[in-house]
Order: sequence, then structure tokens, then C-alpha cells
Amino acid sequence: MIGVIMKPVIAPEKDQPKSFTFTKANEKTIKDIIARYPKGKQKSAIMPLLDLVQRQMAQTTEKGGGWIPTAAMKEIARILDVPEMKVYEVATFYTMYNLAPVGKYNIQCCTTTPCWLRGSTDIVKACEKKLGIKMGQTTQDMQFTLTEVECMGACVNAPMVQINDDYYEDLTPEVMEQLIESMKGDSLPVKGPQNGRRDSMNIDGPTSLKDEAKKAKVI
Ligand code: FES
Repeated sequence: MIGVIMKPVIAPEKDQPKSFTFTKANEKTIKDIIARYPKGKQKSAIMPLLDLVQRQMAQTTEKGGGWIPTAAMKEIARILDVPEMKVYEVATFYTMYNLAPVGKYNIQCCTTTPCWLRGSTDIVKACEKKLGIKMGQTTQDMQFTLTEVECMGACVNAPMVQINDDYYEDLTPEVMEQLIESMKGDSLPVKGPQNGRRDSMNIDGPTSLKDEAKKAKVI
């Protein structure tokens, strides 16, 4: 059965910091981000600022990866002069925003139809077995979080997962377990297809336009 995407997990009040401040370096970045948008359209900066919070939290949190506290959403609303609810709406809509602490490695498993047809259920099972957690959970040592996501636009390389910022594609349960083992040793294999093919090319190489492919140096 195709999995149901879980509602965003929001950190309970007791785990929320009372305030959030951008670093000096990020204050400058915020000015650059806002300048990208026409005057009066500053709310377009909500998404990049949420991403900035998440990356700052990843750098400043002792264990685990980045997430977005409620105080940071309020700070973004203040900076952009938009209602707090506008920021909250965006943050809760997209799975790429973590609203509770996550592990250092956030394994985002795509379970949408093409990945499901190509075996994403077994990829999820391999992750759960290897990590001893269920979908939506984080390991006690804050090393791994397992998240279910919708199509990541890499269906041709299904099944796939996104780990932090990178895609790992053409997976099998065995390869997924090896990836996790590597992450336990803090080393990640080369991102992209894991079955030896280049990008989304046919695994057996091109079947047409071979001369053109050679000229373009893609084979
Ligand atoms: S369905 Fe998984 S990447 Fe599109």
C-alpha cells in the first residue's frame, strides 16, 4: 500500500527555544535575499529565510541536524513584516522544513507511485530494520531521522531517497543498508545513481544517436 504522508511533527513547547536570533553573517544574507524580490513582495523571502534558519540550526546544534523553532518563524514574520500565520502556513506545508529536531542524517524516503512500483516499500523496511526506528522517528543518538516524502522529481531513478541535501538513487535494500553503514562511520558514498549508470541514462548505454552522444562527450 502507498504510504500516507505524515503531518509535520512540531516540537512540543518544552523543546522550543524562547527566542531565535540570526547570526551576524546571516543578517547580511537576509538583506541579499530580500533584495532579490520587488518592493512590496518581501513575503516571497519566507521560503529562503526558513531554509536559512534550518541551516543555522544545523551548524549551531550540538547533535542532530537543522530544524525551525516557532521563535524563528516569529522572527521571520517580524523581519518581513508579514503575519506570523503566513510563515507558519509555509513552514507546515513543505516536508523540507523540519519543525522538530532531526538527526544529523535526515533520510527522506520517497514513497510516491513510481518509487513504490520500483520497491520503495522494501527501501523503507531496510531503513527501519537497520536503524531500529519507524518512519517519522529519530534515533536516540540523534544521528538518523526517517522521513516519508512525496515525489522528489527523480522518478526515472526510482527508488530513491534524499539524505540531507543529496539524492541517492537506483537503490536496493542492500545498497540502502550499506549507505546507512557508511553514514554511521560519517562517510557518505558518492551521491546519485547507485547502480553504476550515469545520471538518468539507460543502464546499458545509449541505443540511438550514439555518434552525437560521443561528440557531446556523454559516452
Ligand atoms: S516517485 Fe519517487 S522520485 Fe518521483
